[in-house]
Amino acid sequence: MLPNLNPQSNPAWQQLKKEFQSIQSTTIQDLFKADPSRFEKFSIIDNDILFDYSKNQVNNAVLQQLVELANQSQLPQAIEAMFTGEKINQTEGRSVLHTALRNFSGKPVLVDGADVMPQVNAVLAQMKTFCHKVHSGEWKGFSGKPIKYIVNIGIGGSDLGPVMVTEALKPYWVEGIETYFVSNVDGTHIAETLKKVKADETLFLIASKTFTTQETMTNAHSAREWFLQHTNDESHIALHFAALSTNADAVAAFGIDTANMFVFWDWVGGRYSLWSAIGLSIALTIGFDHFEELLKGAHHTDSHFRETPFGSNIPVIMALVGIWYTNFFGAASEAILPYDQYLHRFAAYFQQGNMESNGKSVDRNGNKVSYATGPVIWGEPGTNGQHAFYQLIHQGTQIIPADFIAPAISHNPLSDHHDKLLSNFFAQTEALMNGKTAEACIQEGVPEALVPFKVFEGNKPTNSILIKKLTPFTLGQLIAYYEHKIFVQGIIWNVYSFDQWGVELGKVLANKILPELKSPGKINSHDSSTNGLINTYKAWKAG
Ligand code: F6P
Repeated sequence: MLPNLNPQSNPAWQQLKKEFQSIQSTTIQDLFKADPSRFEKFSIIDNDILFDYSKNQVNNAVLQQLVELANQSQLPQAIEAMFTGEKINQTEGRSVLHTALRNFSGKPVLVDGADVMPQVNAVLAQMKTFCHKVHSGEWKGFSGKPIKYIVNIGIGGSDLGPVMVTEALKPYWVEGIETYFVSNVDGTHIAETLKKVKADETLFLIASKTFTTQETMTNAHSAREWFLQHTNDESHIALHFAALSTNADAVAAFGIDTANMFVFWDWVGGRYSLWSAIGLSIALTIGFDHFEELLKGAHHTDSHFRETPFGSNIPVIMALVGIWYTNFFGAASEAILPYDQYLHRFAAYFQQGNMESNGKSVDRNGNKVSYATGPVIWGEPGTNGQHAFYQLIHQGTQIIPADFIAPAISHNPLSDHHDKLLSNFFAQTEALMNGKTAEACIQEGVPEALVPFKVFEGNKPTNSILIKKLTPFTLGQLIAYYEHKIFVQGIIWNVYSFDQWGVELGKVLANKILPELKSPGKINSHDSSTNGLINTYKAWKAG
């Protein structure tokens, strides 16, 4: 069982309110001036990743109270409860064990008294064998040609993780394999994808934990129809369709041979499933050995998270600093800004990770919370973001804590591109912190009338995450930091982070509306706006 404590009733929360009052007049710049060893004190190196959180409005006293808050929220007990398979997803009666999927400790992980590791390892072995068959050309399509195209059909956690990781690890793609992802129920997504592939060389992976998700099943049926138009032989489906799911009955009902099914379990949350059979598209794209390296990187973080004292524990500090801004400064959003083109879907991935997990307003007692929970997560790669939305981060009215992420070694060391990229990475966090005063503007000769517009307040908080090189291992490490950050925040906010009831209502309504769109005549069962929209749609569709 998870602890069930209102964070505001923890003494540390009250103390943090006082710390907030006293630190308000001290800028981050002041904190650096007062302590020449601030960087050393407020940064952590973990393997090939440097996490620098010194450019935040925190001092020793604040950090100490934040760590106290974690302790008073019984975070140590909660961490153990998660890693040891307690059913901490209480509203669904499930364990939360994505960490077991990357458990290389050799130690068992028990759910209901049974070790899950033999099943985890069996599926990994099945994935390895399958990848070998596909990559060696032993697995042949119906015309005798090897597989060239992988099309993963899934949505949410059954799509975003594999998309993000395969994009991030493009330099590791297996030669001769092209991978596509179809998620949107908008027919354009699958139609445009099918134009790029050939039926006899394509492997469709139907990725769905439940195997009932409307978007995925609709796309899967369209893929199946398209495929049969090219072969006219249902027996060929076994060569070209595989399922990644927890639901064997639904897989069989769809017509996929369960020998081609890669299972996972209800204790793997959708948005934490890239480490499971859902990662088959990743393994097929970058090779199984690289997939295993990704898992090992995440396992490295799991050990760091479980064993490191909170004061030097990267995911815990990330979470606590986030709480500091969300709950005491009133920050409503956080930006994730990777200075690496390969990480262009990283923020989108953690939009689901964060917002589906901690976008909750009811605590673990079922009561409405009286404090802020999950912030809005957004971001785009630098330097593109600099020419789009950084204006608001620098000079807008909102405080937007931002994570800057960059690799030191580029996979594409073209002339001085990488130094230019990194000079922007370093410059932005410095500029956000230091700002620019009116005096500096005047000294530069800025006309007096323009001075107010050219002043930068500064004192904008950032974390910098410098990665030696973006590899499968360091990416695994990085993703797991963010996963555990979300977990820690959910524990402190006293919400259930592993359910997602909030996505249900819209789904149910859409299912009610669908027959109304297909039936003739006007409808009047909704409010006047929805009726008006639907009736106009029907009239225009009819031509
Ligand atoms: O958006 C809701 C959700 O249940 C996500 O949590 C999940 O990742 C996604 O739908 C897809 O679900 P499934 O893998 O069952 O198709």
